[in-house]
Amino acid sequence: MNLILMGAPGAGKGTQSDKITAKYQIPAVATGDILRRAIKDGTELGQKAQSYINEGKLVPDEVVIGIIKEHLASDACKNGFVLDGFPRSLPQAEALDAMGVQIDAVVSIEVPDDVIVSRMSGRRVCGCGASYHILHNPPKTADVCDKCGAALYIRADDNADTVLSRLQTYHNTTEPIAAFYESRGKLIRIDGQGAVEDITAKIFSALDALQA
Ligand code: AP5
Repeated sequence: MNLILMGAPGAGKGTQSDKITAKYQIPAVATGDILRRAIKDGTELGQKAQSYINEGKLVPDEVVIGIIKEHLASDACKNGFVLDGFPRSLPQAEALDAMGVQIDAVVSIEVPDDVIVSRMSGRRVCGCGASYHILHNPPKTADVCDKCGAALYIRADDNADTVLSRLQTYHNTTEPIAAFYESRGKLIRIDGQGAVEDITAKIFSALDALQA
């Protein structure tokens, strides 16, 4: 299954992508995680991306399209994948078409902006890509990752001003691609409010129906 997960910053893409990869045994390709790892490692890609991410802006299309081309060509993705955070602009969606990639479904997790702002203030993340919330999705031990045992931290772009700027970027540039996939009958809208496990159940039920 070739999937796209879309949704505003903090809508729960990373949280639900973990559940989807576990159930359907397909890897996630999360552009945000890949870019943050590059920043941490001080690579050329990281140096290019850092200022955009810190300001809540999109990294230039050609940079992320290059990342996606490389990952989708790998053996790991040959039996399917979940794209978490790509495409985020019409040129990115068109680039995916130009690569000849067939998409089975685009799951759009929909959450109002005011709920997002309050979620982001409680988010704690791990360098391994895991994401938690101090109230709604806490780790078993406070501030320690369940998956790898590393210390959790607050993402640099989770401060209130940057979250507002990321939301604006989402509404202006990313949200319009929902119509692009809706016109092809690929869009599945999921209400992203409520308990994590209830949202997972709604996504699984929609994806199972696709496979039936
Ligand atoms: P990226 O890392 O993709 O960030 P994002 O899209 O802003 O999304 P987030 O990771 O912040 O949130 P999420 O939807 O994964 O939510 P999560 O599950 O963590 O991108 C970062 C930056 O990289 C971008 O701003 C851009 O600069 C750049 N970039 C990346 N891709 C790009 C691209 N294609 N083109 C150009 N630039 C690109 O959940 C959030 C919190 O809520 C957590 O604490 C979680 O525990 C909690 N939570 C989840 N579900 C629930 C629930 N149901 N109820 C209560 N709390 C919940």
